[in-house]
Amino acid sequence: MLPREPLEIKGVRIPNRLVAAPVASATATPEGRPTEGTLRRVKEILSSCAGLVIMEHHAVHPWGRARVRQMRLDSDPLVESHREVASLIEISGAVPLVQLNHAGGSVADLELLNDPTFRCVAPSPVPNPMREHRVVPAEMTPGEVEELPDLFVSAARRALEAGYRGVQVHCCHGYLLGQFLSPITNQRKDRYGGGLMNRARPLFQVVDALAGAFEDAIISVRLGVADFFPGSSGPGLTPEEGVRVARELASLGVDVIGISGNLCGYDTPLGFDDYSRLVMEAVGGRCAVECTGMVRSPERAERMLRSGVCHLVGVGRPLLSNPSSVAQWLSQP
Ligand SMILES: Cc1cc2nc3c(=O)[nH]c(=O)nc-3n(C[C@H](O)[C@H](O)[C@H](O)COP(=O)(O)O)c2cc1C
Repeated sequence: MLPREPLEIKGVRIPNRLVAAPVASATATPEGRPTEGTLRRVKEILSSCAGLVIMEHHAVHPWGRARVRQMRLDSDPLVESHREVASLIEISGAVPLVQLNHAGGSVADLELLNDPTFRCVAPSPVPNPMREHRVVPAEMTPGEVEELPDLFVSAARRALEAGYRGVQVHCCHGYLLGQFLSPITNQRKDRYGGGLMNRARPLFQVVDALAGAFEDAIISVRLGVADFFPGSSGPGLTPEEGVRVARELASLGVDVIGISGNLCGYDTPLGFDDYSRLVMEAVGGRCAVECTGMVRSPERAERMLRSGVCHLVGVGRPLLSNPSSVAQWLSQP
């Protein structure tokens, strides 16, 4: 059965085609260190037997957090605390990646927004349509945007020191790099706003810096392909634009593109198969494509792999409800 087939990326063998998608656990200390609760969560995830485990979003800057109890990789003293998580995953036989994120303050929760040390910054001073609180962020200065590649490279260096095999850049679900991509949340008039290639510039600069700094690490981007779900339409980032971004990411040396939604989020009954198929065609085998969303049976996972929707199939909420049932997908004849 297909999901058991391995896939090699940069000499790293992923033992099967199932991916544990990043699912934020809110189990970190306020400093961003994993806790016993995190380790319990990781063990549950590992009972799914997914070959690639992408740990939940870790903040690259204190102002890039989405909530107080989020994991962080924004300072060197944190490295040590992340070793046990990476090593638990590695010892299980799965490949450990970690997702890196700058949330963009407009999605931060109220607890964080009320913290006097937190500064709420985003591409433009517009509320994020994904949050009810409608807080208006401060516009990032060009200098702050130019710092993003360094923030991601520093966090990635810490992740690799902690034992992860690579990183995934969070560019979906209305977080900062996705906010730049969307013309709804990005109304800038400088080189980071306007046309698609300007809006994608911060993402491309981050990826270029990561690919240049870490030749042997797996570099992934989780891309919100559009601001609306497959089969619908609306204002904002279009699938055609998302696919152009994916094509450029493949040229920049990204190893895995994960497919999801941008300002629409991830909660669609149909999943993202249609977007994933478009990205598969656009990247033409230059990188692996992973698709997550409403995969609830081995038959569906197998169909996605066989029909060219993607190379890797991700699961999110099944990891919360019944991760060990996912393992059975791999043992069925
Ligand atoms: C509680 C929860 C936390 C999540 N945290 C993250 C996250 O940290 N990063 C991310 O990219 N997606 C996150 N997601 C989205 C999932 O990775 C996944 O895309 C989504 O659940 C859809 O897949 P599913 O239908 O298999 O659940 C989260 C989803 C849930 C339900």
